[in-house]
Amino acid sequence: MFSGKTALITGASSGIGEQMARQLAAVGCNLILVARRRDRLNALAGELVSVTVDVITADLADPEAPEAVFAQTQAAGRQVDILINNAGFGFQKPLLAVDQLGMVDVNVRSLLAMTQLFAVPMVQRGQGWVLNVSSVSAWFPIPGMATYAASKACVLHLSRALHEELKPAGIVVTALCPGGTRTEFSSIARDRMDPDLEKAMMPADVVAAAGLKALAKGKAVEVPGALYRIMVALVRVLPASWVTRLAGKVMGRHH
Ligand SMILES: NC(=O)c1ccc[n+]([C@@H]2O[C@H](COP(=O)([O-])OP(=O)(O)OC[C@H]3O[C@@H](n4cnc5c(N)ncnc54)[C@H](OP(=O)(O)O)[C@@H]3O)[C@@H](O)[C@H]2O)c1
Repeated sequence: MFSGKTALITGASSGIGEQMARQLAAVGCNLILVARRRDRLNALAGELVSVTVDVITADLADPEAPEAVFAQTQAAGRQVDILINNAGFGFQKPLLAVDQLGMVDVNVRSLLAMTQLFAVPMVQRGQGWVLNVSSVSAWFPIPGMATYAASKACVLHLSRALHEELKPAGIVVTALCPGGTRTEFSSIARDRMDPDLEKAMMPADVVAAAGLKALAKGKAVEVPGALYRIMVALVRVLPASWVTRLAGKVMGRHH
């Protein structure tokens, strides 16, 4: 379905974004790779020789970055058929221990700005795909990781609403909600991985494939992995106060 199209992937320098780039290249989809680490993007572009690959370095914490990325694609005459808002990060830190606004800038603000910019030409063409990477953390608050969970809840709600809002214009919007996934994220998010959580980690390529498949099918929400689908089903029926306390104990504790 995505052969011959062009996908812009934020956070393509590692983890889930890198795996999506590899999988899209394998089906003949051209790429625009966005992240801060140019060396990693160039190395990936050098490997994916079967398709056209552009590299754009940008720090998406900068409020002007989305406009700059959009302008670069326009200047290069590249049409973006598929926008993958994957860049994001989180950490286990109490609210008062460290500034958390940068997380909101990357996880929410840049995602919204990129979607607004790139959806305009998609609507004009009457076709487009937007894949927003949320998290299972979107489904419950996490004391100790409050900002991250709330930022991903925002991505999920935004995506669900935009799925309906942009459907008449021919645009698919999908939220991918991964559970624990083996990427560089876990080393940034947690100082030391809890052994119980480590066992539940999914491979990044499996999560990436689930997201791309859901996007191709036009699904609104995808939660990869049976374990995480059960988790999401349970938190929707259990008392919110109990779920919040448990999430804090399991996912938000500090080492
Ligand atoms: N791994 C998990 O357990 C898990 C679970 C649920 C959801 N997620 C979500 O999945 C997405 C991808 O994360 P991942 O697990 O693949 O982690 P990762 O390996 O750390 O990848 C994160 C990507 O985001 C990019 N990024 C981070 N901050 C950026 C910034 N300020 N500007 C531009 N790019 C930035 C990074 O590139 P540079 O450092 O080169 O800029 C990197 O390519 C994130 O949105 C994350 O919240 C992950």
